[in-house]
Amino acid sequence: MKRILVTGGLGFIGSHTVVELQNSGFEVVIIDDLSNSKIEVLDQITSISGTKPDFYQIDLRVKKDVQHFFENNTVDGIIHFAASKAVGESVNEPLKYYENNITTLVYILQEMKNRKIDNFIFSSSCTVYGQADQLPITESAPTKPAESPYGNTKQIGEEIIKESCGSYNLNAIALRYFNPIGAHESIKIGELPLGVPQNLIPFVTQTAAGIRKELSVFGDDYDTVDGTAVRDYIHVVDLAKAHIAALSRLIEKRNKTNFEFFNVGTGTGSSVLEVIQSFEKATGKPLNYKIVGRRAGDITAAYADTTIANKELNWKTEKTLDEALLSAWKWQEKQ
Ligand code: UD1
Repeated sequence: MKRILVTGGLGFIGSHTVVELQNSGFEVVIIDDLSNSKIEVLDQITSISGTKPDFYQIDLRVKKDVQHFFENNTVDGIIHFAASKAVGESVNEPLKYYENNITTLVYILQEMKNRKIDNFIFSSSCTVYGQADQLPITESAPTKPAESPYGNTKQIGEEIIKESCGSYNLNAIALRYFNPIGAHESIKIGELPLGVPQNLIPFVTQTAAGIRKELSVFGDDYDTVDGTAVRDYIHVVDLAKAHIAALSRLIEKRNKTNFEFFNVGTGTGSSVLEVIQSFEKATGKPLNYKIVGRRAGDITAAYADTTIANKELNWKTEKTLDEALLSAWKWQEKQ
């Protein structure tokens, strides 16, 4: 049985990926510092899969603690989620982002090199493309200068991994996520935003639940189907399964180069108003919203061309936007 380290394994995408890894026969060890997650998630994972993953509360910025973990643990691969992800906060606190997202990555890669651990999966983002010149976005679209320190950490992170793979003979895959949403069908794990949600779907569900008065739709003057911005919303369980596909590709040595990257989305763009309609239809809950000005830093439209990911990873999404929104709502209701 292969043993996989999942950093940030109690977070939103991490927890869903741990469950899929266990379902696929992997043994999992989680590192999480609980800075943006709750320890209860460990029990929830256990109650879904029937197996408790090993867990270490470690701050990956502390190099000796990282070294200590690897002295005491043998792993066959690493899925690295642990990172800060709030775009706005990263503008105010860039050094926090470079320390949390870059320093920790370097420490882990150093351990991989020193201990000859292979098979690394990195959480990247479609943010590396900026506003792409062509839609849907293929992997050959050029990366654009990052709009935020957060976005920059994903670009720099990919560069660091690529160079490390070249020099140290490691194998890695970066998954460039589009917009992950939804919750596990058991409704035992889901997204737990701290404070006022910045992302669309948690704001939608909290508004429908009466926690927020109304949703602000940021801009209706974009050059899109109805003037609101378009994104590619992917069910988090579909996204989690892409990690298993990518990891298996590395373990079975089916990768074509030692550093690869893939778009992980549905291939379909939805406008903010389409999301609202879909949410109302799927849940039967009317949503209170108003149109306001654009949000600084937002792009017009981003959705994935998934042809390469579908073929190379032998993976495709299975869930619809309606299913994802309904699961997000059920999760909200449970909170
Ligand atoms: C953002 C980040 C992205 C990050 C992702 C996940 C930017 C530019 N991108 O994506 O790098 O990986 O979050 O954390 O910040 N919207 C509203 N009202 C709201 C909230 C959002 O209308 O209250 C709209 C936004 O304008 C956007 C869409 O909904 O058009 C999606 O927004 P959001 O969920 O924040 O994701 P992104 O901005 O696409």
